[in-house]
Amino acid sequence: MTGPEPSGATEAVASRASELRDLIAYHNRRYHELDAPEIPDADFDALVRELRQLEADHPDLVTPDSPTQTVGAPASGLFAEVRHRIPMMSLDNAFDDAELAAWVDRLRRLLPDVDVDRLAFSCEPKVDGVAMSVTYVDGRLAQAATRGDGVTGEDVTANVATVRDVPHQLNPPFPGRLEVRGEIYMPTADFAAYNERALAAGTKTFVNPRNSAAGSLRQKDPAMTATRPLAFWAYSVGDVDGTWPARSQSDALDLLRAAGLPVSPDARLVTGPATAVARCRELAEHRHDLPYEIDGVVVKVDDLALQRRLGTTSRAPRWAIAFKFPPEERTTRLLDIQVSIGRTGRATPFAALQPVFVGGSTVGLATLHNEDQVRLKDVRPGDLVIVHKAGDVIPEVVGPVTTGPEAPKKRRPPWRFPKACPSCGQPLVRLEGESDTYCTNIDCPAQREQRIVHFASRSAMDIEGLGEERVRQLIREGLATDPADLYLLQAGPLAGLERMGELSAANLVAGIDASRVQPLNRLLVALGIRHLGPTGARALARAVGTLDTLLGADAATLAAVDGIGPVIADAVVTFLASPVNRTVLDRLRAAGVNTAEPGVPEGGVLATGEPAEPAGVLAGKSVVVTGTVPGYTREEAEQAVVDRGGKSPGSVSKKTFAVVVGDAPGAAKTSKAEALGIPVVDAARFGELLETGQIPG
Ligand code: IVH
Repeated sequence: MTGPEPSGATEAVASRASELRDLIAYHNRRYHELDAPEIPDADFDALVRELRQLEADHPDLVTPDSPTQTVGAPASGLFAEVRHRIPMMSLDNAFDDAELAAWVDRLRRLLPDVDVDRLAFSCEPKVDGVAMSVTYVDGRLAQAATRGDGVTGEDVTANVATVRDVPHQLNPPFPGRLEVRGEIYMPTADFAAYNERALAAGTKTFVNPRNSAAGSLRQKDPAMTATRPLAFWAYSVGDVDGTWPARSQSDALDLLRAAGLPVSPDARLVTGPATAVARCRELAEHRHDLPYEIDGVVVKVDDLALQRRLGTTSRAPRWAIAFKFPPEERTTRLLDIQVSIGRTGRATPFAALQPVFVGGSTVGLATLHNEDQVRLKDVRPGDLVIVHKAGDVIPEVVGPVTTGPEAPKKRRPPWRFPKACPSCGQPLVRLEGESDTYCTNIDCPAQREQRIVHFASRSAMDIEGLGEERVRQLIREGLATDPADLYLLQAGPLAGLERMGELSAANLVAGIDASRVQPLNRLLVALGIRHLGPTGARALARAVGTLDTLLGADAATLAAVDGIGPVIADAVVTFLASPVNRTVLDRLRAAGVNTAEPGVPEGGVLATGEPAEPAGVLAGKSVVVTGTVPGYTREEAEQAVVDRGGKSPGSVSKKTFAVVVGDAPGAAKTSKAEALGIPVVDAARFGELLETGQIPG
């Protein structure tokens, strides 16, 4: 060797690259051939990215068969092989805005004579299914083939012919030969229903809609495939022989649609990269509103002549990019399983996880629901587990990874539900035939704590500064054992507590004091009556007007109230009949807590028979919230609007009164608001809007 070796790989780097190649090959086979992936797509992507980076830093490490140079997986041998006349390529990914911008910059470099800012892009949902090539000869379905390794796929014609969405005959006019490319997928609702049936029948369930589609297509018996609820979206054209007048991708989609092929209604033609980014954001925000799963947006240069000029690399076109959404599934280590006690005494097992970024936030804790769920999932401390979080949904542990290179060699024994309450030490009880386990000690400090925390929470009495930590302290110091005690607190003694100065003591007392005037519906929520949520509580409060009327009503009367059924009615009557609960109510009333619903006459609807008008500063006004308003979950922000008599729909229209813009807002909502001239309110002024019902000036 004559000189330094700037890009030469050390042994450690070379060995990591080879390890990554093996790992990727292993997981590729699990995914493409066995339809049984062990790790989430995002983890797989991370392995490929790591290898790609190593290869970029050390070009001498690149091998021709590296997974970074190839597509998909070779044919399985189950079906006859089909050679694609035009290779079925993969797509390059952009995992964030910067990577998308880098792709746009590359377009600018490759097309110096084109104004990229005015370029048309076709933005299409990236459906999570199985890529399929479907060939029509003289308008009749002739062959369907999987992508395989991109050059050779598998002949699954008989199976694809059972998919209802795939027409057997095209509408004229059609070219003599037309190869349609698209995605076979399973709609989300059908996937859930299918798994439910399989669970009931004790047959194999699928981990996600994509695997359901892949497994269904891999059936040897087409009659089996026919029983699976598969669907198809056509998204492009491969080999064509004959007249095909498309000059752009959007033309092609129109022609496919006219020929009778299903084309996603969510594909959009936009002008300029900024609008393409806005469309990506919009689809990301609404991904769970779509009836099928998508994992990103495919952005394509619309003009076919420009596509030809841009060309392809060995594995992917330069004219398209897949903008991938943040992962909703990742693997991480399960550190421990613990049990928390709720306000009703329910003991809920939860997973303490090695924190992992999933579904847009870092997750360290996830509920495991109950004893049976832990057993069914067979998750054990020390396991490598898959964590799932879709949109605003609560994080969930899907199950352990027990095979493959990353799984622990030796697992710990199955976890056992504790016999004693972790808070009070009393026995935990699980009744025959029930799935939940309870701490039945009504004096249990954890239950007391949770009852007060719920009472003070934002959707209940909304007491500022009274979170879980503070409540725990009040209980520990013997200053409160139930919600009514809060109203006896005085700033003097509070100020002496740890981490509490005079100012915060005064603020806390003021916050508690302010909650005295909350309307009856919030008090009802705060009491934590089983089955009674904010909507039911509002219906009930409007119906009765005052707590006294409610106390005098029987279950049948309450069950007749619009929005209240026999289950809630029974729960309310049972709750109010309990002497312990009655004492707390009496003490709350004695402490000056309001027990009436404003704007509703004494006796409410029960007395007058007339529905009472909801009072509130936002009555009749519609306020759309986009992005996160600090201090509120999406639900709480919308609830705050509803509590003031307003409506909070999911989309902007001419009738919208205001659009509140929080962190990471949906670009579509803000731009629509601007286009329609609807006032946009900054998240910092949300409180003012709620207070006054007017656009903050
Ligand atoms: S175009 C040469 N458009 O994404 C580019 N692909 O790696 C061919 N996919 O499994 C792909 N929706 O089946 C394109 N609207 C869409 C798509 C789409 C989903 C899938 C494709 C392949 C993967 C790309």
